[in-house]
Amino acid sequence: MKRIQIINGPNLNLLGKREPSIYGAQSFDEYLQDLKLRFPAVQLDYFQSNIEGELINKIHQVGFDYDAIIINAGAYSHTSIAIADALRAISTPALEVHISNVYKRESFRHHSYLSEACKGCIIGLGLDVYRLAIEHVVNY
Ligand code: DQA
Repeated sequence: MKRIQIINGPNLNLLGKREPSIYGAQSFDEYLQDLKLRFPAVQLDYFQSNIEGELINKIHQVGFDYDAIIINAGAYSHTSIAIADALRAISTPALEVHISNVYKRESFRHHSYLSEACKGCIIGLGLDVYRLAIEHVVNY
């Protein structure tokens, strides 16, 4: 059974309530149930934190055993060399996802420190970015 760790960063605990015109009206917990039903043959683990160091600790914890990490580091994507270094330090491949199309938004969202440390990026397709990332891990 493939093991995938989803890691969500700051403010993503408020999905469903937070700026729904940008991030949608569904909570991540609700969406996660859909994902688990859709991928019964995948062990899908979920971690969310608003704290940079906790995200790094989780990357270290799973980064040598899991088949993949799917990470949405929220605004830390645009600021955190430490999270990028953590992704470089591990052997598990990471896929970067963003719910919104960051390239249509403020210019400070156009650069992610994480992208260079990830296998690939899926951006701007709403919550469906998580499903697409899982499909990739399952199929390749
Ligand atoms: C985000 C985009 C980031 O710029 C923003 O800070 C977020 C969410 C997204 O999923 O679209 O918190 O990562």
